[in-house]
Amino acid sequence: MPVYPPEPFRIKMVEPIRLISPQERLIAMQQAGYNLFGLRAEDVFIDLLTDSGTGAMSQGQWAAIMEGDESYAGARSYFRLKETMEKIFGFEFFVPTHQGRAAENILSAILVRPGMYIPSNMHFDTTEANIRARGGRPTNLVNEGAFDPTLQAPFKGNMDVEKLRDFIQQVGPQSIPFGAITVTNNAGGGQPVSMANLTEVAAAYHEFGIPFFIDCCRYAENAYFIKQREPGYADKTPLEIAQEMFALADGAWMSAKKDALVNIGGFLAMRSADLFQKVSNELILREGFPTYGGLAGRDLDAMAVGLWEGLDESYLAYRLGQTNYLGQCLLDAGFPIIEPPGGHAIYLDAGRLLPHLPHAMLPGQSLAAALYLEGAIRGVEIGSVMFGYTDPDTGQEIYPKLELVRLALPRRVFTQSHLDYVADVLIKLKESASSLKGYRITYAPPLLRHFTARFEPQ
Ligand SMILES: Cc1ncc(COP(=O)(O)O)c(C=O)c1O
Repeated sequence: MPVYPPEPFRIKMVEPIRLISPQERLIAMQQAGYNLFGLRAEDVFIDLLTDSGTGAMSQGQWAAIMEGDESYAGARSYFRLKETMEKIFGFEFFVPTHQGRAAENILSAILVRPGMYIPSNMHFDTTEANIRARGGRPTNLVNEGAFDPTLQAPFKGNMDVEKLRDFIQQVGPQSIPFGAITVTNNAGGGQPVSMANLTEVAAAYHEFGIPFFIDCCRYAENAYFIKQREPGYADKTPLEIAQEMFALADGAWMSAKKDALVNIGGFLAMRSADLFQKVSNELILREGFPTYGGLAGRDLDAMAVGLWEGLDESYLAYRLGQTNYLGQCLLDAGFPIIEPPGGHAIYLDAGRLLPHLPHAMLPGQSLAAALYLEGAIRGVEIGSVMFGYTDPDTGQEIYPKLELVRLALPRRVFTQSHLDYVADVLIKLKESASSLKGYRITYAPPLLRHFTARFEPQ
């Protein structure tokens, strides 16, 4: 049995969870249109739907919450967050937002015009949708290795820099209002990006005068991977590595619900005074005054403390160790996953587990539904439901290369025995994999369809 570093905390408050019967699970799924987002959370035993906003806050964060200053403008909480932001990220300007997608919306509203392209290694769903909502074209230029689930490489989130340069020359820098990179690469297995790659990507964007933004919600996990895997970084702290990462960029946005260890929050940061002016105006329209941006003062304080806790080395060793533990339990049993295990989640490879189901029969949806029906465990499909779309030019159905189910680990929430239970249920499911049925979509909205689509088994 693989082991991981013990939790660098002990449990002071508990939240009961319950395992309902298989019959009750079936009824719950039918009522939810077989969409796991439609379930009542209390009908889920181990909820691995997302690591976003689902973490446990520390005593330090709860204490900071009591100090929250709820002044509309210029609150002390804002200045405490500002100080932290300056130390870690080093951008000249920032605004708080209520979560990551609000930052994406504001940036897209200001910079994206119809027909423009936004390259990245891989955009996540909300980023992609916010760009599309403004008529833009999100373009994924991750290295080919990212699509080989068993390839053992340290930085499978890296962007293909040659492809990026060719792409910029092909569409012209004037049609790229900003370039991006996602750390870690959530849509591609939670895989990290190396400092060398970040440096080359920044150089490519800058050579063509394109501002470079980092979608940085898991930047601390990425920094720890760099420390563990990239030559020359073993003796640096996660903070020093993070500072080096952000020094390369012109801005960043963050869903603080991840590595800032809060239940709600985010930010958009930048170097340009001109952009900051426009962002502030848009923020006032959509989110709130620039010193609170849609959050309560106490949320800003929780974020200021959580950002530091998220960079703590013993926490990061436990965090990545826990994800690796679940991954190794599955690999030892021959269950196909994206290898090596990522930072925040294990990505089950439904495509390889269910070769009898083609893309159109939604193998990821099939596996995610079976996991709930079998063990009341909730994951999320990251495959043709989330990323399939109809090409606006050809009318053709486009499917992603990988059909995955992501099991995201909330931060500081589950213990090793919870993970053992998850592994046991999955290993049992593997035995009956060939009998799993496909699904068809009976309803889907035009954007971000996975949240509210309805399904039926085929
Ligand atoms: C890489 C990435 N970017 C952006 C977002 C959007 O953040 P939020 O859910 O806070 O709106 C997420 C959320 O999962 C994400 O993983």
